[in-house]
Amino acid sequence: MFDVNNIRKDFPMIVNNPNLIYFDNSATTYKPYCVLNAVKDFYENKTANVHRGDYDNSFIVSSEFDEARNVVAKFLNCDKNEVVFTSGATHSLNQAAQYGFQYLEKGDVILTTLSEHASNILPWFNVSKKTGATIEYIKQDKEGIIDLESFKKQMNSKVKVVTLAHVSNVLGHINPIKEIAKIVRKFDCILVVDGAQSAPHIKVDVKDLDVDMFAFSSHKMCGPDGIGVLYGKSEILNKLEPLIYGGGSNARFTSDGNILLREIPERFEAGTPNIEGVLGLKKAVEYLMDIGMDNIHNHEVKLKDYMISKLKELDNVTLYNPSADTGIIAFNVKGVFSQDSGSYLNNKKICVRSGHHCAKMVPNLINENDTVRASMYLYNTFEEIDRFIEALSNLNIESALDIFF
Ligand SMILES: Cc1ncc(COP(=O)(O)O)c(C=O)c1O
Repeated sequence: MFDVNNIRKDFPMIVNNPNLIYFDNSATTYKPYCVLNAVKDFYENKTANVHRGDYDNSFIVSSEFDEARNVVAKFLNCDKNEVVFTSGATHSLNQAAQYGFQYLEKGDVILTTLSEHASNILPWFNVSKKTGATIEYIKQDKEGIIDLESFKKQMNSKVKVVTLAHVSNVLGHINPIKEIAKIVRKFDCILVVDGAQSAPHIKVDVKDLDVDMFAFSSHKMCGPDGIGVLYGKSEILNKLEPLIYGGGSNARFTSDGNILLREIPERFEAGTPNIEGVLGLKKAVEYLMDIGMDNIHNHEVKLKDYMISKLKELDNVTLYNPSADTGIIAFNVKGVFSQDSGSYLNNKKICVRSGHHCAKMVPNLINENDTVRASMYLYNTFEEIDRFIEALSNLNIESALDIFF
């Protein structure tokens, strides 16, 4: 059974800071003891490089590293060869965009949304600049909800890549990826999904969704920083060029410059990998799977519904995504700059994010430049929301400035 009080005991940041309310989980998340212990255990008891040494610790660590790939494959429901370890979602999305550099040309279209995070739009802007392919935007309403009928009409034989977030990091809706994939499959086109805000919070089955590539970061799902995943269908990965070259990714090279790359996924993992990151991610995935992704999502939906209903009762708050599907809420306090709201909440020991959240085209949708974002995770509680609402109810231009004097 899902018991948030028990879950809270798993997180040293909560045990050590019981009064601090952490509502910035879209930026990064707390790590449970089991993840920290896995990282520590690697450094304290079995430090070795992977796939390189002929001694016990290297064998042990290599087999745990390989097992981590199996665990992530199970998490995503794919083959282990389709799991590429990267440094995070940004790296994964840049690797995915390599497809564009290889296969797109003038006249082709990349279809995306105005709510993308920089990490899933800047690589494609670059593809567009270098290849002459153009970027077009899927129609969304002012909350960022995709209009599937318009999307159907926008799809044609010129569209070679559809790329979008599974869940927007500002507006919190779950995009209808499965329905989008069905439409994309009617064309010679690939579907790339930024799962940075979905993999940590909802069950993701890449086979069922039928996506070609899917990216996420470990640190947003209780795992260590500096490690992430790019899932790619084997037929896509087999024709994708690696972003980086070096040791571990090649089977052979000769003085005339010929390189024989290893099979997927190793060909994408040149250099010593982030071993402690992979071992920590393995633990994080096991931890989340043990609790159950559906249980986590259900808890977050209850928190989100409660927070939205309470925010709606406040006259001083403008809410930008009242129909969010996940625990990501964007709002402003009337007459108060988002940054000042953030500082005021910080003064009350509440952590939120203020600004544009790296999604600088969202103002085209919500007609507001900067927002305050509260984003929740499995360890947040209704009591924390009550304290947050109480703090917000007293927030206005005077109280916001008071904290500076
Ligand atoms: C939707 C989305 N995509 C991509 C990223 C980039 O993730 P990272 O900074 O871990 O590479 C983020 C991070 O906030 C995000 O929210």
